Amino acid sequence: MSSRPKISIIGAGNVGATTAHWIASKELGDVVLLDIVDGMPQGKSLDLLESAPVEGFDVDVKGTNNYEDTKNSDIVVVTSGVPRKPGMSRDDLISINSKIVREVTENVAKHSPNCILIIVTNPLDAMVFVASKVSNFPHHRVIGMAGVLDSTRFRTFIAKELDVSVEDVDAMVLGGHGDSMVPLPRYSTVNGIPITELMDHGRITALAERTRKGGEEIVNLLKTGSAFYAPGAAVTEMVEAILKDKKRILPCAAYCDKEYDVNGYFVGVPVKLGRKGVEKVIELKLNKEESEMFQKSVEHVKSLVATTEKFL
Ligand code: APR
Repeated sequence: MSSRPKISIIGAGNVGATTAHWIASKELGDVVLLDIVDGMPQGKSLDLLESAPVEGFDVDVKGTNNYEDTKNSDIVVVTSGVPRKPGMSRDDLISINSKIVREVTENVAKHSPNCILIIVTNPLDAMVFVASKVSNFPHHRVIGMAGVLDSTRFRTFIAKELDVSVEDVDAMVLGGHGDSMVPLPRYSTVNGIPITELMDHGRITALAERTRKGGEEIVNLLKTGSAFYAPGAAVTEMVEAILKDKKRILPCAAYCDKEYDVNGYFVGVPVKLGRKGVEKVIELKLNKEESEMFQKSVEHVKSLVATTEKFL
């Protein structure tokens, strides 16, 4: 056994396998890829491992169908579930994915009681709630991946529009991971310059709308599934922030108690991400319009969560 951190990824489909790829190539730790399909996680893991000499990463990658192999993971990423097809919203996945996330979380919590859980399965905000209830982990160890993905989409569109380096573009997208998500142009910048200084209102509104529909745009192009490169990269950024205790400020679906007047739900907010998981929820000052959009998004999350209760 190595002394490297251990990251288990549940679901070795598009998002799971791509996440394993990014994590291994960044040498963040040993990776275990688990799926219910016999042979598939083993095959993908062996293939990825055989790229290590070329890419020069010294971590182990193991595929499995057995939770014993995930034992004592530092981080467990849950991607298991069904992705959407054209015409479906993320919310349409709720009944099937609630059952999958419940079963997976029970197994994960049994084998890695001290891990940090990162949930990716959609509908995201509701699935984080399910994982939190089932695992009974302290809230700071259950986190949903959505804001980093939505923000990287917004950043991409801003960089393209202004013809500037993506490295200089930061953006903030809060709220639920759905059509009601809240891109915040006032908190989106190009090397510190608010984009509101660089683009007119119409362009910003169009880019924000494209961001809201960013997942759907990919689904409609792929026709057989949903996005995986940007989601995999977003998860990897969160894993790195945690394992290296970087204290990054990233938008994640985190438990809000009194923050933002949200009482007891997981919603997309900026958090400080470090070795303990969510170390702080950062409260931004929202103006009236932003605040109304955020509360509307929270109401949607609440209605989704209410639907999951019969699966708990
Ligand atoms: N336990 C373990 N793995 C499971 C289970 C389960 N109970 N049920 C399903 N899986 C696996 C499937 O066998 C499949 O390999 O989850 C994997 C999902 O992979 P894909 O179908 O390729 O879906 P993907 O695109 O990776 O999306 C997964 O992430 O972004 C979200 O909306 C997306 O909810 C979806 C999830």
